[in-house]
Amino acid sequence: MDTDQNRAVTRTFSLRGLTSSPFERGRTRQTDDVSGFNMPAPLEIIGAHKAFRSPEGATVTALDNVSVKLAQAEFMTLLGPSGCGKTTLLRTISGFETLDAGDILIDGKEVTNQPAFRRPVNTVFQRYALFDHMNVARNVGYALEIAGKSKRDIQARVGEMLELVGLEGLGQRNISQLSGGQQQRVALARALAAKPKLLLLDEPLSALDKNLRQKMQQELKTLQRELGIGFIFVTHDQEEALTMSDRIAVLANGKIQQLGAPDALYTKPANLFTADFLGESNLLPVAIERGVATLADGQNFPCSNESAKGTLLLRPEVLRRTAPSEPSLTVQGTVVASYYQGKDCLVDFESPSLGALKANLREFKSLPERGETVSFYASTSDLHVINEVSS
Ligand SMILES: Nc1ncnc2c1ncn2[C@@H]1O[C@H](COP(=O)(O)OP(=O)(O)OP(=O)(O)O)[C@@H](O)[C@H]1O
Ligand SMILES: [Mg+2]
Repeated sequence: MDTDQNRAVTRTFSLRGLTSSPFERGRTRQTDDVSGFNMPAPLEIIGAHKAFRSPEGATVTALDNVSVKLAQAEFMTLLGPSGCGKTTLLRTISGFETLDAGDILIDGKEVTNQPAFRRPVNTVFQRYALFDHMNVARNVGYALEIAGKSKRDIQARVGEMLELVGLEGLGQRNISQLSGGQQQRVALARALAAKPKLLLLDEPLSALDKNLRQKMQQELKTLQRELGIGFIFVTHDQEEALTMSDRIAVLANGKIQQLGAPDALYTKPANLFTADFLGESNLLPVAIERGVATLADGQNFPCSNESAKGTLLLRPEVLRRTAPSEPSLTVQGTVVASYYQGKDCLVDFESPSLGALKANLREFKSLPERGETVSFYASTSDLHVINEVSS
């Protein structure tokens, strides 16, 4: 059935309504300069610090010396557990929260003490924060209305924005007459209507079901590339972060733990927090001496880390059932449980010398059974040692 709801959900964003505007023409020219040479960063945060006094009287450090610089037209994700400071960081960028110390520059201009309405930034909130008493069109055009734009300009821009997010023809609807996915699109259209230089998105997809969420992830990413503006995207969801981002900033306790491209963070995490937070992991202590790391069971492999102790990150999916031709580690154990997951299979097993481990198998003839003795192999080229030992 081709209802307007279905159409809006299955259609990808259109950019026809945007390409003629001087704003986007300007941005496109800027993004042609891939080096970003001679251009100020779209956003630079230097030494941001923010503490709150909790109602119980304790001091909570929400941001602890956070410094980050966004590249031109970059999609950056803030990823971290609940309470780590993600929303606080967005609120200080948008101007809804002031910093205790540090500076914020947008396009090279300091905005640290500027009020929110002066900053060329807009936010899509987790619960959309749409105005229920206004129809879709007024929601989208609200910022332009407040800015005193003419009715004609507002109408034209609202039309462009609704087309952009695949909601043309729904301008007169009440918000309550829209699905969750459509409301999310209205929030996005509203945030983009005033042509922000930077878009902040605070868990904008968390209220959507899995299929719609995946579709919106792809659409958001496409939209960001086409618009050529910086997006700072907050999520709890590691897969979402890995799929969508140019770079991910992993946060814990108000601090950036690591900032980098998704594959670098996943395969070469700098610390135990990032290794454990991003994906599944087997973390095994190693002793390092003269370029060789040794596991508790005596196996060793080349390691260039300089510290005397470290932790081997053994991702479950690097473990194979057949020995590779190149140098490898062997882990043996007894199956505790195995789970068929469709495209792969997860095996929990216990190694007498290395403890509880897990393997993720893509190719398997039959599920390894509980109590079965299994051997797995990992190429030494797939190993990564972190200069940190868990306490
Ligand atoms: N206005 C406030 N008053 C007191 N404490 C606050 C205030 N705002 C945030 N905090 C505290 O600051 C810390 C960071 O909060 P923040 O909302 O930034 O976390 P978050 O990473 O967005 O978490 P979530 O994933 O749950 O949304 C938390 O400990 C929170 O309780
Ligand atoms: Mg939050």
